[in-house]
Amino acid sequence: MTSSSNAGPASQPRPDLEPLPPALSSMWRLCKLGYRHEPRLMMVAFVLSQLAALPDALLALWLMVLGNAVVQRRPTLLLVAAIGLGVSATATWFLMTVSTRVQRRFRDKVTIALEAHVARLQASIVTLAHQERPEYLDRLAMLRHQVFVLDHMYMSLFTTCGWILRLAVTVVLLASIHPALILLLVFALPTVYTATWRPAVERVVQERSEQPNRLARHLFTIATTAAPGKEVRVLRIGDRLIEGRRRAWELGFLPIARVRWQTAAWHAAAWTIFGLAYVGGIVFVAWGLRASAGAVLLVLAAGSRLSAYIGATVGELGFLRGFWMDGSRRLAWLEDYANRVAAAPDLPPPPSLTRGISFDHVSFAYPGTSTLVLEDVSLTLPAGAIVAVVGENGAGKTTLVKLLARMYDPTEGAILIDDRPLARIPVDQWRERLAGAFQDFVRFEFVARHSVGLGYLPQLDVEPAVAAAVTRAGATDVIEKLPAGLGTQLGPTWPGGVDVSFGQWQKLALARGFMREGPLVLVLDEPTAALDAETEHALFERYAAAAPKAGTAGSSGNGRITVLVSHRFSTVRMADLIVVLDGAHVVETGTHDRLMAMNGRYAELYRIQARSYQ
Ligand SMILES: Nc1ncnc2c1ncn2[C@@H]1O[C@H](COP(=O)(O)OP(=O)(O)OP(=O)(O)O)[C@@H](O)[C@H]1O
Ligand SMILES: [Mg+2]
Repeated sequence: MTSSSNAGPASQPRPDLEPLPPALSSMWRLCKLGYRHEPRLMMVAFVLSQLAALPDALLALWLMVLGNAVVQRRPTLLLVAAIGLGVSATATWFLMTVSTRVQRRFRDKVTIALEAHVARLQASIVTLAHQERPEYLDRLAMLRHQVFVLDHMYMSLFTTCGWILRLAVTVVLLASIHPALILLLVFALPTVYTATWRPAVERVVQERSEQPNRLARHLFTIATTAAPGKEVRVLRIGDRLIEGRRRAWELGFLPIARVRWQTAAWHAAAWTIFGLAYVGGIVFVAWGLRASAGAVLLVLAAGSRLSAYIGATVGELGFLRGFWMDGSRRLAWLEDYANRVAAAPDLPPPPSLTRGISFDHVSFAYPGTSTLVLEDVSLTLPAGAIVAVVGENGAGKTTLVKLLARMYDPTEGAILIDDRPLARIPVDQWRERLAGAFQDFVRFEFVARHSVGLGYLPQLDVEPAVAAAVTRAGATDVIEKLPAGLGTQLGPTWPGGVDVSFGQWQKLALARGFMREGPLVLVLDEPTAALDAETEHALFERYAAAAPKAGTAGSSGNGRITVLVSHRFSTVRMADLIVVLDGAHVVETGTHDRLMAMNGRYAELYRIQARSYQ
């Protein structure tokens, strides 16, 4: 039992979720990332995109020359204007085509680099908090969706620069007729504002909706995948799942639709202001200035271009801000977070254990919750010992194992490995000295040899090593029953793949845990729960006989500690040390005989089980 009197994690306050890094610096970091991977391609793509912007912007100039040539009946000037128009149109098309091709190539390459980068960052985060806290999950889910489009950011950035260049040329042309025409820009400002403001507002609502959306996806997966199929059918909850999914989807989507309508109305109002100003500008030039026909033509063309350019710039900025800028901020956050979590530890793990592992006043609450799952645990696991951890469901046994594997750091207190704080040992190096099998093991649907061999990559393909691990785990019978032995593909969805039973999967997982040579700690968290009691007993009897005895961490052994979690007391009683967890505390420790003599919690649990077997 835990001491959990509080409500579940969902209702706990969510402290200290750091804000995303600032937008501009994040985008700059993404630019540098792209440049680091593809410097030449990126530069060429940028220059081409800017060159492609020029001829288009000069179109209004040619139109003015054309208008004047027609009015003044000057054939040479007419020819110049015609050639200018022709060259402009051709160059626009040509440069656009080449630039698009180059950009696509750059994007393809950079996408691969970015995806690898995100995957590497996620994998480099050594603790699991980011994969369990809902707020982190939401951030990561959005980043995962966005990583495929992050490469658009470069395109978008180049395009934005191109639009700004066109805009600048157009403004210069307009000012050459009358400086007052620059005012047109001012009237365009509301559109700039609404376009940048819109996506930001929508994003906030969308982020809030990510949770119902995730719920909808979760329910959909449960309702449609094979694994939960049995339970869904027996419980007859299919309709309920579908209904729940619909409601979750609505809960996620309706607020988004509402905010989109609202922002669209504001945007339309802003564009109306600009439209009126544009018409006013033309009237001013034609009647107020009594300008030449060519000049009116220029204002007509440049003015309409101005609205198109501002529209495009603003639209592109909106995309940049709403989607890609946001994506780059998430990426920057993930980079920072990964860096922070991987703070420099400075001690190597000891080559062998002489004293053992101590928990020194360790308390732990899962990230984002305030219920202590372990409270003030002080405990020594002696070198060379087989330590059994017992307790009711939810007592914190797996949590203890997770802390030992450093999936999390204790909230308070420290874990000492032969007096070296675990927090100061690099996680990678520590995990290399760790082996084990977990309660929620993974079914690696590979060839059986690899499914086991993964336990120790250097020996992935070394058949004798794999076979030895299989024997140690008592999984020989599983392999013998496979049509091609260790060469059998596991998983019925693969060509030639076979499915094996839950217990057989578990034996393979156990074999995987036995692959690694010379681990300092071997954790076995109910690795045999699916096996019958007899098989489990025989297995551990053999294991205990082969293991170096407690306290004999001499030259032969490395003082390996085996931490075994089991609900079966016939297995547990073989351990050198038994740790009894109850209500987030260690209530008793000792050997079987001593704990029985104490006649406390252990003796009580033991007798209950012994009775049920009689
Ligand atoms: N990722 C998590 N986030 C929040 N709380 C968790 C998480 N995992 C476990 N808990 C809580 O921690 C407590 C201890 O869980 P733990 O998995 O350590 O129990 P256990 O002793 O291994 O139980 P079992 O015998 O069922 O395997 C439980 O109350 C559980 O609700
Ligand atoms: Mg457990």
